[in-house]
Amino acid sequence: MNQMLAPETLPARLYSAPEVYEAERRNIFAKSWLLVAHESQIRVQGEYVATAAAGYPIIVVRGENGKIHAFHNVCRHRAGPLADDGHGKCEGQLVCRYHGWRYALDGRLASARDFGPAAGFDPRDFSLLPLKCESWRGFVFINMDKDAAPLSKTLAPLDAKTKQIPLEGFVYTRQTTHDIACNWKTYVENYLEGYHIPLVHPFLNSAVDATKYEVDLSAPIVFHHAPPRDGSPVGGLWAWAWPCLGVNMYSDGVLIELMWPLSATHTRLDYLYFFHEGIERAVMERNIAASEITTDEDKRICESVQRNLDAGIYSTGRLSPKHEIGVSWFQKEVKRALE
Ligand code: FES
Ligand SMILES: [Fe+2]
Repeated sequence: MNQMLAPETLPARLYSAPEVYEAERRNIFAKSWLLVAHESQIRVQGEYVATAAAGYPIIVVRGENGKIHAFHNVCRHRAGPLADDGHGKCEGQLVCRYHGWRYALDGRLASARDFGPAAGFDPRDFSLLPLKCESWRGFVFINMDKDAAPLSKTLAPLDAKTKQIPLEGFVYTRQTTHDIACNWKTYVENYLEGYHIPLVHPFLNSAVDATKYEVDLSAPIVFHHAPPRDGSPVGGLWAWAWPCLGVNMYSDGVLIELMWPLSATHTRLDYLYFFHEGIERAVMERNIAASEITTDEDKRICESVQRNLDAGIYSTGRLSPKHEIGVSWFQKEVKRALE
């Protein structure tokens, strides 16, 4: 077994304590590259996507000359929102929903509506708070840490392994959302191993050969590969990127999973489905239905695990060197971030 990987699991209290979640927000989510949108969602000037990333309000918007800008979705007057969460389009300026301050698409305060004379008030001091923003193959990432290393460095292992996969050829088709009553780490850890497939996912287990399931760690990316059983269209390459992104690649599409913590004890999964343009509608619907069944199965088991973590019986366990190297690496990184 790899000596670098800790065999013992994180203590149960780290999965429910509010102060641990606050530390994770600051030390993990505010310092990592986070996927928040796809370029095709913000094709024309003024189109935006707003979301909450671990409680941090974020907005990405298409500005002049095609440039994408990212900001905290927080007005500099009294913290109103510039947009409700979701996708939309503004007419040339972002207008605060509270008192109507108007911002240019590059974040400058254009006008403070009916503000009145105020000595020493310089609009130039009240631009939106900008975030680092970079794209990888059409996917838009932000980073709240202005000193963060470039996105390309973080995603280098993913980029190298997916060069042959025509990600740009897939079209954004649908978003679904799942609320799960568990800590975000409970869900991520479940994602990071295929050990549970024969017990939890009967359909998936009939479609892929779980005995040949492989987990390959190329930090900060964890790859899974499961060969399809004969005649099954399922099977593919699943990649997970620190701290909360799943990129599930199949022959006819890609499913992006965003595993957002909502609180210490709740997680929201945002699924973005992309398919090959020529896919038959029936095949697409079948693929989506199969994936939603797998997610419901994962939701049930994760919620049970969370109840048991909270019950005060279990403290720590052991990780399998054969199946759980991804979980082990993830837990080591969480521990390091909390220190
Ligand atoms: S909070 Fe935005 S205009 Fe007042
Ligand atoms: Fe699962």
